[in-house]
Amino acid sequence: MAYTVPKLKDFSAAALEKAAAKLLAALEQETAAVSNESAWKDLRDRWMARKNGVLTQVNDLWLKAAPKDAKRDVGQQVNELKKRVEQAIEAAQQDPKNAGSSSRLETDRLDITLPGIQRPIGAEHPVVKTMNEIVSVFRNLGYSVQEGPVIETDYYNFEALNFPPNHPARDAQDTLFIANQESKPQPERLLLRTHTSPVQIRTMEKIKPPIRIVIPGKVHRNDPPDASHSPMFHQIEGLAVDTNITFGDLKGTLDHAMKALFGSSVKTHFRPSFFPFTEPSAEMMVSCFICGGSGKRGSQPCRPCKSTGWIEILGCGMVDPNVFEFVKDNGYDPRKVSGFAFGMGADRVALLKYGVDDIQLFFQGDVRFLRQFA
Ligand code: DAH
Repeated sequence: MAYTVPKLKDFSAAALEKAAAKLLAALEQETAAVSNESAWKDLRDRWMARKNGVLTQVNDLWLKAAPKDAKRDVGQQVNELKKRVEQAIEAAQQDPKNAGSSSRLETDRLDITLPGIQRPIGAEHPVVKTMNEIVSVFRNLGYSVQEGPVIETDYYNFEALNFPPNHPARDAQDTLFIANQESKPQPERLLLRTHTSPVQIRTMEKIKPPIRIVIPGKVHRNDPPDASHSPMFHQIEGLAVDTNITFGDLKGTLDHAMKALFGSSVKTHFRPSFFPFTEPSAEMMVSCFICGGSGKRGSQPCRPCKSTGWIEILGCGMVDPNVFEFVKDNGYDPRKVSGFAFGMGADRVALLKYGVDDIQLFFQGDVRFLRQFA
């Protein structure tokens, strides 16, 4: 039963006390039941509305109706009661569950004298930083950036790069295969890409020649982790296809890139190699920028170049015509276009650049290590 203000017959202090206690008990019950802003507004109106609110009724039925000689005392008690009702209703408003947007604005006022909250913004990871640097060297030469999936099909990772099924060159790639692919035809089977080279094919399927692209990305191999190996690492691939691209263009481009990356005094050196997707193929060495090519640091042997004065940086070569055959329909007729390609390990470049001796440090996420490169 909702509380109603009773008419009083007895205006003695004791009777008033009793009536006030009943009113306050009702108030307590009603405020406790309020659980949102609109219920709180109803409560406020019921108790405090000028027209017919509980307090107005108290005024009419208790104070105005009191006999003259009791008025003073009744007045005091009614005032006391009013104060308590107003306080209780205000307190209910402060309860967060009852605070609406307008009262929130009132209570949650912004104190602009408080010190600000400092949020560390982080920094580029040294490997990402190195990749961005390498990419920007090629961007400045007019190359654009392409990316491709880390989970790749056998077709793009191997077949279209001229690794036929069962070719021994597949062995050297230490592939991590996705499980349960045997029911699919071989070209569709999934694996973790072992190099960024599949994006060469994906891009040539999309974009007609001429193209000049670099492809930064994550790759995986079944290599146990040690100071110089990680099952996950990063490569940057490059591909230039046009009419009349020669091995001279390859050498000039890469020599320029190495000077831009490691300093204008480094020399490059190409040595014959084999990759299924390039012919001829080469490994490119850079003169050691730690020891200046001498192989020694003072009286000590130079570790990064193993005292040879040269550091192997990448694989490269002229795109094999067999590769163009797979994308011939998009304008890559091997009789009309030629190109060069290269691929380098970004983590290794980062190790050398920053003088870090363990690749694992890059991937352990220890801020004490990473902070040094910020
Ligand atoms: N994909 C090769 C690897 O990871 C690296 C490579 C060599 C890429 C020669 C090339 C290239 O584009 O022409 O072992």
